[in-house]
Amino acid sequence: MSYETILVETRDAVGIIRLNRPKALNALSRQLIADLNAALDDFEADAGIGAIVLTGSEKAFAAGADIKEMQALGYVDVFMDDFVARWEQLSRVRKPVIAAVAGFALGGGCELALMCDLVIAADNAKFGQPEITLGLMPGAGGTQRLARSVGKAKTMDMVLTGRMIDASEAERIGLVSRVVPTDELVETAIAVAQKMAGLSLPAVMMAKEAVNRAFESPLADGIRTERRLFHSLFATEDAREGMEAFLDKRPAAFRNR
Ligand code: HXC
Repeated sequence: MSYETILVETRDAVGIIRLNRPKALNALSRQLIADLNAALDDFEADAGIGAIVLTGSEKAFAAGADIKEMQALGYVDVFMDDFVARWEQLSRVRKPVIAAVAGFALGGGCELALMCDLVIAADNAKFGQPEITLGLMPGAGGTQRLARSVGKAKTMDMVLTGRMIDASEAERIGLVSRVVPTDELVETAIAVAQKMAGLSLPAVMMAKEAVNRAFESPLADGIRTERRLFHSLFATEDAREGMEAFLDKRPAAFRNR
């Protein structure tokens, strides 16, 4: 399948989506979000795919919502269209998604990265929520996911001033999982995705669901969800295989059932 604004490929059991509007630093146009959602749907439905990598170029993961498109919109337009609701599809993907971020991840670009399960950053990455400098504010979860991810101090600093942070600060505050040299970014992210894709997919998906519950519910509810999901994995052949393989001192051969 070919798209106007993204490039899509698969490597073994990993689906790779590359945002590709180089002239606009991957600004997130309506078309780009539609293309991204279609590609995510395809990878979700493909039983051969166990993990997804979302990346951009070396200069920009994404420089935010497309300001040229947004400039033309009025209140009734954004309200009637429920502008940005479609962006949330990324946060509903059940398979693991890794953001591989080089260059600018600003505004909606930072928010897309925050919707992914883990962020691997190139050493040239820059994260920011500059909407306030446009007279706007984050609208795709930036105030909420960033606050849950890095806390109030850094979130207020970024959201109220538009200050960009570099990769090492992003790692220090817990926004990114790992920082790697820029030229190793995509290969590292694919290797991490391949590691996940080689595991039991039901276990990986349930573990993702359980971790995400931590951001949505009181502790006791989250613990209960975790326990129910943990119990349910005892019904899978993969858990039998994983434990047996450990005791047999051989690699496990998971079959995702
Ligand atoms: C549309 C954009 C764009 C954007 C860059 N471009 N960002 N077009 N929307 N968000 C375009 C520029 O207009 C320019 O086009 C080309 O990309 C290259 O950009 P330059 O500014 O010339 O590059 P540079 O000097 O290297 O500066 C890079 C930059 C800067 C610091 C990233 O482009 C920038 O500040 N961009 C805007 C970042 C921003 O405010 N993002 C938040 C958007 S609001 P031409 O045609 O002139 O070559 C948002 C709201 C999310 O995301 C809420 C939910 C929707």
